[in-house]
Amino acid sequence: MAKQNNIIAPSILSADFANLGKEVENVLEAGAEWIHFDVMDNHFVPNLTIGPMVCKSLRDYGIENHLDVHLMVEPVDDLIKMFADAGASSITFHPEASKDPEKSLSLISDLGCKPGLVVNPDISLDVLNPYIEDLYMVLLMSVFPGFGGQAFIPEVLDKISELRKTIDDLNKKIRLEIDGGVKVDNISKISESGADTFVAGSAIFNEENYKDTITKFKSLID
Ligand code: DX5
Ligand code: ZN
Repeated sequence: MAKQNNIIAPSILSADFANLGKEVENVLEAGAEWIHFDVMDNHFVPNLTIGPMVCKSLRDYGIENHLDVHLMVEPVDDLIKMFADAGASSITFHPEASKDPEKSLSLISDLGCKPGLVVNPDISLDVLNPYIEDLYMVLLMSVFPGFGGQAFIPEVLDKISELRKTIDDLNKKIRLEIDGGVKVDNISKISESGADTFVAGSAIFNEENYKDTITKFKSLID
């Protein structure tokens, strides 16, 4: 199974929260397919962001696109339930934040969402072994989680290639998402290494014209 179709998933962590609905609309109109929704609890990572009610507000506002919820929280199970109820499409979490990752993954699927695991830059891909066959997506962090606007960690490129080979050998439709420091000047290399789902926060929201950036991204990966 080769790569899935390319997806651009802007992270709203870098959006203007005073105008979040409009920001999400604008970035989708600019060509993004998904919205990456960073949930931080100031416990698992040293920052605090948004909860299930914001996810529900976007759904009530009329956003129908895929909401890619990234849980940087511990524990995870209660928030999995709340985000599934709030309209999440996929839910990814860090396995080290769950007492029973298998149970947490089953909970995501049982609630009708697509399950994924997140691997930090300093964690081995081996952590995926017991679970990978049942995943919808693996999210590789190319920064240490907690903040937008950090620099891409280049050593992660080899990790992307290794995971791409693992997924291809499994011959399973598993998305390979990259998250952290994705920019116009590195997205080609990231794509060549084997990613098919690209999170970008500051690269998109810190620029005036969202469409320019997203169009440039697509020209560099398609
Ligand atoms: C970091 C988050 C990332 C971050 C990406 O903990 O998981 O999604 O918002 O932001 P940039 O693209 O600015 O690195
Ligand atoms: Zn994220």
